[in-house]
Amino acid sequence: MSKLSICVAGCGTMGTGIAIVAARGGANTVLFDVARDRLEAARQQMANFFEKSVARGKLAPEQVEEIMGRVSLATDPAEVSDCDLVIEAVFEDLKVKGALFQRLNEHCSPSTLFASNTSTLSITEIAAVSGRPDRFVGMHFCLPAQLMKLVEMSPGLETTDETFDRAWSICEGLGQQPVKTLDQPGFILNCFLVPFNNDAIRLVEQGVAEPAEIDKAIKGALGYAMGPMELLDLVGLDTQVLLCEALHGVTHEPRAACPPLLRRMVAAKRLGRKTQRGFLEYDSNKIYGS
Ligand SMILES: NC(=O)c1ccc[n+]([C@@H]2O[C@H](COP(=O)([O-])OP(=O)(O)OC[C@H]3O[C@@H](n4cnc5c(N)ncnc54)[C@H](O)[C@@H]3O)[C@@H](O)[C@H]2O)c1
Repeated sequence: MSKLSICVAGCGTMGTGIAIVAARGGANTVLFDVARDRLEAARQQMANFFEKSVARGKLAPEQVEEIMGRVSLATDPAEVSDCDLVIEAVFEDLKVKGALFQRLNEHCSPSTLFASNTSTLSITEIAAVSGRPDRFVGMHFCLPAQLMKLVEMSPGLETTDETFDRAWSICEGLGQQPVKTLDQPGFILNCFLVPFNNDAIRLVEQGVAEPAEIDKAIKGALGYAMGPMELLDLVGLDTQVLLCEALHGVTHEPRAACPPLLRRMVAAKRLGRKTQRGFLEYDSNKIYGS
């Protein structure tokens, strides 16, 4: 049997982490993005992460060489035509995702499965425009994907059992822990997280406390590894705006509505870790854990 090959389409915050999981899990991994500089940056972030894994004694240098040897870069969909699975992690926008899947559908082998890492959009709706709704599944990795095992997996209305089972077994084979959820906005995690993080932003907006103080309180009292402000900076404030729009647009949950401060931060290009400034400040844009 030929080696498993996975294309990760969209190599920003999530795609880079998912690519680490795929390559570390033994798959030939193609990083696909519209932005060539993003691809180069993603490969460098992966290398930095694995370098740190060596320093921590988790991987041997030869293993890293082998893993990085399985990684290639592509900007043309023709280059990913024979992948077994495409995991899409582009902007949280139905039109952008739909257009990408349509292009991929023209080039990919009929046996290629499509998965979306969407946090809030409908799997069934993306699948419907993809051209292969029966071979489409939701695979929602958690941030930071390179460290978190959990993957929320959702079948769309037309997803076949065979597709779902195959994607599930690939996910487990990569060392991840899938949980099955309904195709509904926010699945399990973001039903809590998007409103919770917005509540924290509103506290800053109202001048109740400084971001670092909010994180200190939440971590200290609730035992979370990361406070909401630090988490938001890792998620990306631009991505949080899109998550709010998608979730609020469907559920009309008032706490999911985008806080005005969040929009102002994005307008000022304070996007979080990716621009080294969000609610907190950072001295490099290295991927989390490296
Ligand atoms: N950031 C999070 O915390 C998080 C967590 C889980 C899931 N998600 C989901 O993952 C997806 C990506 O989010 P992100 O935060 O990584 O976004 P991001 O903005 O960091 O990265 C998006 C990447 O997609 C690329 N891209 C855009 N359009 C493209 C196209 N047509 N073809 C190929 N590449 C394209 C961009 O160049 C960029 O590199 C979204 O659906 C989001 O909801 C995000």
